[in-house]
Amino acid sequence: MKIGVLTGGGDCPGLNAVIRAVSRRLFARGHAVVGIREGWRGLVDGHFEPLGPREVSGLLPRGGTILGTSRTNPYRVDGGVDAVLQHFRTEGLDALVAIGGEDTLGVGARLHAEHEFPVVGVPKTIDNDLSATDYTFGFDTAVFICTEAIDRLHTTAESHNRVMVVEVMGRHTGWIAVMSGIAGGADMILIPEQPVSIEDACKEIRHRHDRGKDFSIVVVSEGYELEGVADEGEVDEFGHVRLSERGVGAQLASQIEQQTGFETRVTVLGHVQRGGSPTPRDRVLATRYGLKAADLVHDGSFGRMAALHGDRIVDVSLEEATAELKRVPDDWFEVARAFFG
Ligand code: F6P
Repeated sequence: MKIGVLTGGGDCPGLNAVIRAVSRRLFARGHAVVGIREGWRGLVDGHFEPLGPREVSGLLPRGGTILGTSRTNPYRVDGGVDAVLQHFRTEGLDALVAIGGEDTLGVGARLHAEHEFPVVGVPKTIDNDLSATDYTFGFDTAVFICTEAIDRLHTTAESHNRVMVVEVMGRHTGWIAVMSGIAGGADMILIPEQPVSIEDACKEIRHRHDRGKDFSIVVVSEGYELEGVADEGEVDEFGHVRLSERGVGAQLASQIEQQTGFETRVTVLGHVQRGGSPTPRDRVLATRYGLKAADLVHDGSFGRMAALHGDRIVDVSLEEATAELKRVPDDWFEVARAFFG
């Protein structure tokens, strides 16, 4: 068989490790592998590059994606779906491994349902918001980076008696904020799933300062709904507003300073969270997902996604994985809340 591989949506550490594992397993089973450039855009435009043992060598620690990525949605491009099907055929492909999040895999699920498109998915995103898998690869690295930042902000916050607001990514879920906040010992965490009011957050901060602490660390998720912050701005082909442009961290910092009188600063971690080398955990997870995806292709099990359940790699339907967002459950937030104020 000849199998295409694409990486779509926001990049994240571990993409190259998946490409390596998928390819190595497929080569071992006697198949050929073709890289598709820049996500679904590569299938819409017919942009391919052969992947051989040399191309996939040395990829394990490398961040980003050697294939490039985009947020192209073939369903939003005139004639996009027909072009995908046509290029897939003319390139002589038998199957596709799509490595992506909710959007990229949502396209795969729809193509499979509507055209019996032979696709297998691998769950990628720093946001960890995909259903039907416990963890996506890329998330652990993002949490590691945010935790390190929070540790560093502690020392400067303490020296200046300041409140430090740290804005992290995560889109409409608070996984990165909660996990890095717990790991970094945040004094307050604000996420979309738990609408704590600014008044209550400030009460906790004042309470902490009344107990003799002169500084506080507040972690806020970019998707946190803050009064006065509009949900407007540029929208991508999947209908997502660029949340980082809402400036929730800066607005929050100014409101905290006004309400508490404590000097407050903001740090927006931004795309640093997606850059650089994957953690060992993400390398291992990406590798296991890659092998599973290749096995699913080899067995002709299409419309499936590699997933992590507990410690086991299993497969689930793409439809189930993309049906709804996986939000942070209350019990995880309770772990974080135990250390507020
Ligand atoms: O989905 C990954 C993610 O990093 C989100 O956390 C963030 O909201 C978004 O992508 C940023 O997208 P872009 O790279 O297009 O600015």
